[in-house]
Amino acid sequence: MGVVGAGGIGLSVAADFVIHGFGVVLVDIDESRLEKSRDELSRAVLYGPMLRTALPRVPVEEALARTVFTTRLEALASCEFVVENVTESWDVKRGLYRELDAVLPPGVGIGVNTSSISIGRLAAETTRAPDVIGIHFMNPSYLKDAVEIMRGAETSDACLARVSGILEALGKSAVVVGDFPGFVSNRISHLFFNEAIRVVEEQGVEPATVDAVFKKCFGHRMGPLETADLIGLDTVALTLDHLYDSYGDEKFRCAELLRSMVKTQRLGRKTGHGFYQYGPVQPS
Ligand SMILES: NC(=O)c1ccc[n+]([C@@H]2O[C@H](COP(=O)([O-])OP(=O)(O)OC[C@H]3O[C@@H](n4cnc5c(N)ncnc54)[C@H](O)[C@@H]3O)[C@@H](O)[C@H]2O)c1
Repeated sequence: MGVVGAGGIGLSVAADFVIHGFGVVLVDIDESRLEKSRDELSRAVLYGPMLRTALPRVPVEEALARTVFTTRLEALASCEFVVENVTESWDVKRGLYRELDAVLPPGVGIGVNTSSISIGRLAAETTRAPDVIGIHFMNPSYLKDAVEIMRGAETSDACLARVSGILEALGKSAVVVGDFPGFVSNRISHLFFNEAIRVVEEQGVEPATVDAVFKKCFGHRMGPLETADLIGLDTVALTLDHLYDSYGDEKFRCAELLRSMVKTQRLGRKTGHGFYQYGPVQPS
């Protein structure tokens, strides 16, 4: 399996594949990110099965031996399928799809892991549109039971069947939806995150209070601000911007507080500080 982009979600997708016995080529343009990935992947392989007992236990050394960490896109030429997880930006993804199309042998499929960008538009940047499909993994992938699948206008039945087989090997089911901006998950969830952030910004409500309403009163496992911190506030802001541009609807305008947190690198768990501080003490 090829995994491109070793950010929060890409790393967890790579770990999911390794835990389930696949060999993985993990590519990122950022050498320092790849360095950190080695430790993060080891921790996921070690602790994942404690958090989700159905997961296979794999020795860390074996997992690392089955993973290639590289900045070279050409290393993907040996893969049967590639999951792309790079920055949520049309310009970044678009350039990459052209490069991927050039290095991957014909017939190799690409799973687009995006929060909002059109699968059909990205597929059109390649010569293999029937082999391109959206797979929206949830974070962290190895702890989740299902993914959202987005079928592009030209995605073939064979590609959908191939991805169903891969998901089966990962012990996951799929919910298939259409290819519209944000799909079902993020068209709805990002409004919810943005509105929660506005409640903090405009009404001065503490983040823990906002989240407590959803956890204690609605019984959600995590509140909206904890979830946004987990996803990464930069990715949440980029997704809102893409939804705003796509629908031209004010309701998707990114909250000022979110914008300023991204500017100051308060990105959530990935930088240790978002709506909460991360370190030895985690939000309950
Ligand atoms: N964070 C989540 O919970 C989540 C969940 C599902 C889907 N997604 C989607 O997955 C993608 C990645 O999200 P993220 O939050 O991990 O982002 P991120 O910004 O944390 O990580 C993106 C990674 O991509 C790398 N990258 C950028 N351009 C590249 C290129 N040309 N080649 C190789 N690597 C490149 C960056 O160096 C970075 O490490 C986005 O499209 C996002 O919408 C995110």
